[in-house]
Amino acid sequence: MNVLRFSDLCDEGRARGRRVFIRADLNVPQDDQGRITEDTRIRASVPCIQMALAGGAAVMVTSHLGRPTEGDLQPADSLAPVAERLSELLGRPVPLKTGWVDGVDVQPGEVVLLENCRGNKGEKKNDPALAQKMAALCDIFVHDAFGTAHRAEASTYGIAQHAKIACAGPLLAAEIDAITKALANPKRPLVAIVAGSKVSTKLTILQALAKNVDQLIVGGGIANTFMLAAGLPIGKSLAEPDLLDQARAVIAAMKARGAEVPIPTDVVVAKTFAADAPATVKAATDVAADDMILDIGPQTAQKLARQLQAAGTIVWNGPVGVFEFDAFANGTETIARAIAASDAFSIAGGGDTLAAIAKYGIEPDVGYISTGGGAFLEVLEGKTLPAFEILQKRANG
Ligand code: 3PG
Repeated sequence: MNVLRFSDLCDEGRARGRRVFIRADLNVPQDDQGRITEDTRIRASVPCIQMALAGGAAVMVTSHLGRPTEGDLQPADSLAPVAERLSELLGRPVPLKTGWVDGVDVQPGEVVLLENCRGNKGEKKNDPALAQKMAALCDIFVHDAFGTAHRAEASTYGIAQHAKIACAGPLLAAEIDAITKALANPKRPLVAIVAGSKVSTKLTILQALAKNVDQLIVGGGIANTFMLAAGLPIGKSLAEPDLLDQARAVIAAMKARGAEVPIPTDVVVAKTFAADAPATVKAATDVAADDMILDIGPQTAQKLARQLQAAGTIVWNGPVGVFEFDAFANGTETIARAIAASDAFSIAGGGDTLAAIAKYGIEPDVGYISTGGGAFLEVLEGKTLPAFEILQKRANG
């Protein structure tokens, strides 16, 4: 993908003495007291800020946090806890600036955090006047917010249209590179795992991947609908019978290309959805009317593990069972460990997937872990994200 990269600008000394505006995604989860409960996105934003500081720039960073009402920012919407955490990670003060749209006082070698950009009126609708004001604050706009790359807002899109220079930060560039490696130029076989409770929420992803991947492993409630489509009994498991035709179409599209959707041959069932519900392994053909499928069975898990180990590229979105309950975690753990052991280039994304990766401690063995939630899903749908579109446009003059 042809975009200008901030790392190249810094290497060429073009950030020295310049005002650099970094749009990061610092939208992190917080508890009721506003304490940050998970700081991956803040840590992921540090290399870009350090790059800008090392390059001699005057650095402004902003992000959204949650979905506040524009023009009516409440204390709970403030980036203050993020400023504190960022300051710890950078080992230097990070002052938080409010009312910053009309001017920011920052000197080369300094970094400031600009309060929640969704507090500005016109942000979400990409108001051109707001975008132009933001662009006027800087010499270089750096988009480093992959988690927000699917949004065309004033601080992500409009500013990129109007800034003198618009480029991709190191995090966005790494995400572009990993996505390209996995989906545009994959080493084959390309195996995708798409799991989750509903086919309806991931139908467009399944349809897009069915045109590209060699094996499409489905899990969770999605697998139940596919099992139903394959004529298997699923008892009282979560499924969407009204989407059987779509599931069959995905299976047929894969088959027509000589690819496959592996359907579970065994499953783990329970009579109730509970951590302490007794778990029973059954052949997929033997699921009873009052059974609930909560995981793939060990035979299926081993078969999928072998396919993953033989893969050239793996794309993972979604745990294949209720891995939060130990009795139903074997499928997800087996898949996770197979991905970790595989020589394939792997890319994983999505909240539950990241939680599974953390649970099994396989972070170092996954090729790339995306910071995007909705953005990652839109990439899997085959969409061109607005961030990539505008940065490409700017790079091409
Ligand atoms: C996310 O958490 O997925 C991103 O920060 C985007 O947030 P949004 O869905 O509120 O735009």
